[in-house]
Amino acid sequence: ALVVRHRMRSSGRCARAAALLKELEERCATPLGKLRQVADAMMVEMHAGLASEGGSKLKMLISYVDKLPTGDETGLFYALDLGGTNFRVLRVQLGGKEQRVVKKEPKEVSIPPHLMVGGSDELFDFIASALAEFVASEGEDFHIPVGRQRELGFTFSFPVRQTSIASGTLIKWTKGFNIEGTVGEDVVAELTRAIERQCLDMRVSALVNDTIGTLAGARYYDNDVIVGVILGTGTNAAYVERAHAIPKWHGLLPKSGEMVINMEWGNFRSSHLPTTDYDQTLDTESLNPGEQIFEKLISGMYLGEILRNVLLRLANEAALFGDSVPPKLETPFILRTPVMSAMHHDNSPDLKVVGTKLKELLGIPNTSLKTRKVVVQACDIIAKRGARLAAAGIVGILKKIGRDSAAKDGGDTPRTVVAIDGGLYEHYNIFSECLRSTVKEMLGEEASASVVIKLANDGSSIGAALLAASHSQYLDVEES
Ligand code: GLC
Repeated sequence: ALVVRHRMRSSGRCARAAALLKELEERCATPLGKLRQVADAMMVEMHAGLASEGGSKLKMLISYVDKLPTGDETGLFYALDLGGTNFRVLRVQLGGKEQRVVKKEPKEVSIPPHLMVGGSDELFDFIASALAEFVASEGEDFHIPVGRQRELGFTFSFPVRQTSIASGTLIKWTKGFNIEGTVGEDVVAELTRAIERQCLDMRVSALVNDTIGTLAGARYYDNDVIVGVILGTGTNAAYVERAHAIPKWHGLLPKSGEMVINMEWGNFRSSHLPTTDYDQTLDTESLNPGEQIFEKLISGMYLGEILRNVLLRLANEAALFGDSVPPKLETPFILRTPVMSAMHHDNSPDLKVVGTKLKELLGIPNTSLKTRKVVVQACDIIAKRGARLAAAGIVGILKKIGRDSAAKDGGDTPRTVVAIDGGLYEHYNIFSECLRSTVKEMLGEEASASVVIKLANDGSSIGAALLAASHSQYLDVEES
């Protein structure tokens, strides 16, 4: 009788687990029709955000970048990239069209977590001191003309209201940063003061978002790049807009007639987005409730955390991991997206990787193959929803700029390149594969033949250095 009762109990659990998964799948579904609605909503919000300040959830920030790198840039430039869990510094010797990047030297420094939620001066002092140390190690194969100040492109991957190419105030923190005293301040002034405290002689010549750095870095090698996307800790996109199509821009019309726009699409939201109770919980418990809703469905900071919320409910309501809920599963952010990706890509017949991760990370020993399969299914649903929504965002942009369909009357369709950077896109293959195939699915064979989606690895630091070069204080001297 005991055995029978046990069997019944366990089949009841399985049924409950299956029901919860099915519900998750239905709520997260992104059929083509829904994706089209999301793309259209994105396009509508883009128009609204360009029309007036505060006109939309999409800030559509003006970057003051009205010319992208051409290849003519020369000289030694530095870049500093702040925006995820690491920050990077880079120096690059640019040699013009023929030689391009003569030499570059990057360095990555991880940010102590307490600095991400501490005070503004502490953060900027830490960065400036790492920068000073890096500059001190400059070798002889990098050249700076005598008497010249070193110049820096500052990639600052948060929403900034720019006041010029090299100044702008922080609108809000995102992605787990929460530092007092920086919102509303000019981040270039903050960095410059910290640089001075280090007695370092260096000037910030360009302040850019990482999406814009990516766009610029990729454009340096390929003239057809017009969109830059980040899929990493956070997610966002920038693209080249016609200045005439930006009613809220009251400045002079740029010579190029173009202006790069930082969309801050992470803050997009729409009733068409497929959201669940798990997303609701994640949002409520986050540092920025009600904000960055699109980002919370897509980006690397959150996918693993959504999975944790799903597994926690499965543990609670369907005893997925046995009679008690594994305590570690209750720890926010314990399940990072790289672990989720490793489990999702497990091709072994007994899902060994899944078993090991559950054991090592969450202290859950001896999971059955059935249980492991449930975990992989949950990964699949969550990752593919994110990838398909990101694809819909990209298609929204292409629609806005008229690059979503092939030329009529047999004319030539221009080639359109979307450059993507970020650890999520680079390392989570199922995610990136799904994103690419979804863009294709949405555009159709003919139109997608001229749309190229490519990985622009580490382009964002180079891009910032290139923009520092094209906005150098010495340029006018040289040109005259
Ligand atoms: C967040 C930031 C945005 C950045 C993106 C990717 O969404 O607000 O500025 O581009 O993350 O790093």
